[in-house]
Amino acid sequence: MPVRLKDSESIEAIISEMTLEEKAALVIGASPFRTKPLEKYGIPALVVMDGGTGYNSIQAEQEHAFRAYCKRRISAGIPVSEDEFPEGDECLDTNKLSLLARGAVQAPDLGEMIAVRPVLPLGCYPPGMFLGATWNPEVIERCGKALGREANACGIDILLGTPNVNIHRDPLGGRIFEGYSEDPCLVSKLAPAFVKGIMEGGVVANVKHFAANNQEKGRRGINEHIEEETLREIYFPGFKACVEAGCATVMAAYNSINGSACAMNKWLLTDVLRGEWGFEGFVMSDWGGAYDEVEAIAAGCDLIMPGPRTTAPLVTAVREGVLPESKLDDAIRNYLKVLLMTPAVKGHLTLEDIDPEEGKRAAYDAACEGITLLKNDGVLPLAEGNKIAFYGRHSREMIASGEGSAEVITSLNTNVYDCAAKITDVTFGEACEDTDVIVVTVSAQGQEFYDRESMAMPEEDRIALEEATAESKSLGVPLVVLMNISGPIDIVDWEPDASAIVCEFFPGMQGGAAMADILFGRVNPSGKLPLTFPKSYDVTPTKDNFGGDGIELTYAEGINVGYRYYDKHPEDVMYPFGYGLSYTTFEFGEVSAKSEGDNIRVSVDVTNTGSRAGSETVQVYAAEPIKALKGFAKVKLAAGESKTVTISINIADLAGTGSLAIGTSSVDLQPLA
Ligand code: BGC
Repeated sequence: MPVRLKDSESIEAIISEMTLEEKAALVIGASPFRTKPLEKYGIPALVVMDGGTGYNSIQAEQEHAFRAYCKRRISAGIPVSEDEFPEGDECLDTNKLSLLARGAVQAPDLGEMIAVRPVLPLGCYPPGMFLGATWNPEVIERCGKALGREANACGIDILLGTPNVNIHRDPLGGRIFEGYSEDPCLVSKLAPAFVKGIMEGGVVANVKHFAANNQEKGRRGINEHIEEETLREIYFPGFKACVEAGCATVMAAYNSINGSACAMNKWLLTDVLRGEWGFEGFVMSDWGGAYDEVEAIAAGCDLIMPGPRTTAPLVTAVREGVLPESKLDDAIRNYLKVLLMTPAVKGHLTLEDIDPEEGKRAAYDAACEGITLLKNDGVLPLAEGNKIAFYGRHSREMIASGEGSAEVITSLNTNVYDCAAKITDVTFGEACEDTDVIVVTVSAQGQEFYDRESMAMPEEDRIALEEATAESKSLGVPLVVLMNISGPIDIVDWEPDASAIVCEFFPGMQGGAAMADILFGRVNPSGKLPLTFPKSYDVTPTKDNFGGDGIELTYAEGINVGYRYYDKHPEDVMYPFGYGLSYTTFEFGEVSAKSEGDNIRVSVDVTNTGSRAGSETVQVYAAEPIKALKGFAKVKLAAGESKTVTISINIADLAGTGSLAIGTSSVDLQPLA
C-alpha cells in the first residue's frame, strides 16, 4: 500500500516512493485551471483560477470545455495524451475552447467540479487600484474574506492574483487597474490585508506577477533591464510584504529581468524569495510562462501551469543528469505542503454558506472609502431633490473591473444612474429646463493583453463630455464629471468646465450605489489617489521607454517612479499622489515624534473643523534624499471631533533617509521637527 498524504510527515514518505514519471507529472498542471491528482497517494487535484476581483466564470467554462473535450475523446476510445500538448498552453486556445464550451455548458453531466454558472449571483470586488485609493486595510480585508468565501464555495482552492502587487509604472499599462499603487509603501501596507482576508475565506492566496510585470506589450518574455536597487526599492516590497503576511503561493511573471525569464530565474525565485525572505510556500509559473520547464524547475518554480504538457523533457533531463532529481523533490515538497492548506483537503464551503449581502456590504464599504473627490467648487454634495441629467454610457453601464483575468460577469453591478434615480429625478442624454446639474461619466479601458495607446478618453465619451459641457453652458447649470477609469486620462483641456471631478476608477459591484450616495452627501468621500495624475503623457518619466521595442526594455527612470519623479517636476502634475478632497475640512494640531523600541511614533491631533462627519488620511514621508511615503493612518471624525493619530514607522525603514514630513498628500506637507 503506498503512503497516503495526510500531514507534512507523509510528504517525505510519498516523495521517496514516487517514480520519476510521477514526480514530473505532479509539477505540471493537468488542464487549463487544474493540477494533477495522484489518487494512489491520496493527492487531490487543485482548482487554481482567477481572480482578485471575483469568480471568473469564463475560466470555469474553459476548464469545463477542456474536460468535456477529454471526455468525448475518451468515450470515443481515443485517450488524450499530454504529449499532444508539448507547450501546455495550447489547451488554452480560446477559439477552440469556446466552441467546445458551448457544448460543455449544456451537457448535464459536466457539472461535477466547478459550478459553471453558480446559482447564486457572485460578486465583483474592486480591483487593486481602487483598493489602493481606500488607504484602508480594514475594508480591503473584508472584501478579501467575502471573495475568498465565494471562491471556496465555487470549488476553487487557490485564487490567483490575490493580490496583484505590480507597481503602476506608467499610466498606459493595460493592467495597472489590477495593481495597488505607484508606491511600494502603500502597496506593502494594503495588499497584505487582502491576503489575510482571502485566507480567512479558507482558500489559498496568490500574489502575482513576480516581478516587475508592468506592461502588456511583449509581455511574454520581454527582457527588462532593471537595476537591482530599483527592484529592491520599488518592485519587490509588495511581494515581500505579502509573503510575510502568509501568502502561500507566488506567481512568476511572464517577463524576463536582466536576461532571465522570471519563471526560470534562480536569483529571483530561490535566492531572493526563499533565501532572503524565507518564503515557504510554492511558486507557480504564469500561464505558459515557464518557457523551458527544466530551467524553471531548476530555478525554483514548483508548478508549471497550465497543463496538459508533456513530461518528457523533465524525465529526460533527470535521466541525463541535467536536472538533479532533488530539484523535483523540492518542488513537490513545497507544493504538497501548501496543498494540505487548501479546501481540497480541508473541505469546501457550499453555496448555501454564502451570504451575498455580506459581500455586497464589504464591496459597498470599500467603494465608499475609495471614490476620490478631485475638484469641487462647492456644487457637491447635491441637495436631495436636485434634478440630474446624466450623460455618458458608463453612467448606466459602470465598469466594475477591467478585462482579462480580472473580468467578472455578475448581475450584481450597480450604476450611478439607477441608484441616483432612487433618490431624485434623473434623465439620460438630455437636460430639461428644470435640470439642476449635469453629471457625465467618462471612461478609460483597462485590460490584460493590451496597453492603452494614449491617455485620451474613448471617442464616445469625448462626445458625451462635449454634449454635457454644451448643455451645462447653455442652461447655466454646473457640470460634474465622474471618471470610471483604469488610470490617468487627459484632464487639462476640460477641467475648467467642470465644477466637480470625481474619480471612481473601477469600483467593483457597489460603485454605482456608493457614487450616488456620495453625489448626495449621504457618504462623505475619503479616497486618496494611489498614483499621480500627470498633466499629459508627454511629461511622464517613462514616456521614452515604456513598451520598449517589445523585446528589450530599459527601466531608465530607476527608482524615480510616480511622485518620486514628479516631486522634482511639480508643474507636470494634475493631481498628486495621496491627494483627495472631502466635504468637510480638517486641521492639524501640534505634531510630535518619539522613538520607542524599533519604531518612531509620529503623533498629530486632527480636528474635523467642518459640519459633517468625514475621514482624513494622515501621511508621513521621508523628505530626503528622495520623497518616500513611510506610513499613514486614516481617521474618521464626527463634525467638530478631534483625535490623536499615531503612525508607527520602523526605524529600519528610514535607513538612508533624512528629515520627515507630515500632511494630507504627497505635496501638502509640513516638516516634522
Ligand atoms: C495572466 C495571469 C492569470 C493567468 C491565469 C495569465 O495570462 O497573466 O494574471 O492569472 O493567465 O488566468
